[in-house]
Amino acid sequence: MTPEGEDQRSSTVPEETATIKSYRQRFTTYTSIPPVGRPRQAILAEMEQMRALEAARWGKGYASGAVYHGAQDHIDFLNSVYALNSQANPLHADLWPSAIKFESEIVAMTAAMLGAKESGAEPGTPGEICGTLSSGGTESILLAMKTYRDHAREKKGITKPEMIAPATAHAAFDKAGQYFNIEVIRVPVGSDFAADVAATEQAITGNTIAIVGSAPQFPHGVIDPIEELSELARSRGIGFHTDACLGGFLLPWAKRLGYDVPPFDFRLPGVTSMSADTHKYGYAAKGTSVVLYRGRELRHYQYFTTTEWPGGLYCSPTFAGSRPGALSAACWAAMTTIGEEGYLESARRILEAAAKMKQGVVKNPDLELFGDSLFVVAFGSKELDIYKVLDAMTERGWSLNGLHKPACMHLCVTLLHTEPGVAERFIDDLKAAVAFVKDTPDWHGAMAPVYGMANTVPNRGVVADGMKEYMDGWYRTA
Ligand SMILES: Cc1ncc(COP(=O)(O)O)c(C=O)c1O
Repeated sequence: MTPEGEDQRSSTVPEETATIKSYRQRFTTYTSIPPVGRPRQAILAEMEQMRALEAARWGKGYASGAVYHGAQDHIDFLNSVYALNSQANPLHADLWPSAIKFESEIVAMTAAMLGAKESGAEPGTPGEICGTLSSGGTESILLAMKTYRDHAREKKGITKPEMIAPATAHAAFDKAGQYFNIEVIRVPVGSDFAADVAATEQAITGNTIAIVGSAPQFPHGVIDPIEELSELARSRGIGFHTDACLGGFLLPWAKRLGYDVPPFDFRLPGVTSMSADTHKYGYAAKGTSVVLYRGRELRHYQYFTTTEWPGGLYCSPTFAGSRPGALSAACWAAMTTIGEEGYLESARRILEAAAKMKQGVVKNPDLELFGDSLFVVAFGSKELDIYKVLDAMTERGWSLNGLHKPACMHLCVTLLHTEPGVAERFIDDLKAAVAFVKDTPDWHGAMAPVYGMANTVPNRGVVADGMKEYMDGWYRTA
């Protein structure tokens, strides 16, 4: 969705920006299988056109998050690894022991990075820090919450499960609540956007199956007080999940670089599970994440087994049956080629670029930086409609995240923003966008009215229906 109307683009904006349905005009729309197959070259040429059009935007660092590495040689390497492994399926462990090797080692490397050795849990013993690979942050979170639900049902007889999560914890926790019939108790955060420990304590009941904290949370990049929250959970015999989907592959290196990173992982005895996304700052291809547990017993509640199906004895560790072994291979290859040195250097560059961009926001008197974050630049405005600023940034080519409650926007800094001139371009464009919004009071923008309305409609069902229709649009071909 790009705004129509006035042309406020700077000369650096990608010439053409693909909108979600703009390919209809350019390429044939298929609504049934073509009677005769198309030449492979024609398909590849068409896809190359789409790739080039899309890469013109994210490749120049215009996107928040989305592509976390982005260097062409890294992408080419992952693509070669994918090509070698494209037939692999970890469900058939006998056929592809390579996939099993890759997955077990990804889990072990991630656990080691997140304090397995310092946790006091001996490797190779039933209490060890262990886990599985999943398809992304959302799946890792869904798996962990399902695990706590089933564990609490069997061990504590809890049949009306509740989880406690700060208001800022990812939407995936609500999804887990909906899918698995767990009531999500959302606790308001403080003015620093961090979880409120006292309010969390108040929310605990006999049905609490898990408490959640983020390191950091998505909206403002703030790290919750994980030490206090996990200790609270431990003192009540409740599981604690650190959602480190976003920060799991960045914070350990930030700490080693000397940044002030409070403990958030298995070094804390109360942390009983974690999610950390390899497909974000792990620099793997999209489609992998790691979910970790303190002890194999807890992991067992994640697994699926059936002994009676005529199809045979069937078991699978995550939601999917067959899975893309090629993505596991690419993830393993990314982790082992980057190495500690590469992760440290990438973190250094990202944290420095983020500090520069944050300074650009702080220096703008019309904007207000939200939260104390290492690599998420979140800001709002007391004076201006921040969604108009967001629209004006979109017109300049940027793809930033609009947030609400309170109204603000953010940019999640990646390696693409560390390329020469990108941070400066962000600051200059932001200055120009703010000036434009101030000087053009009659300008409504494209998404600003939508956000404005969505925030004020009292019937949230109406807003949800609008979102469903929006998704319907993704699948419309006629
Ligand atoms: C803190 C946090 N948790 C969970 C997720 C969900 O990850 P995914 O989009 O890979 O499902 C995200 C995504 O940005 C996140 O930032």
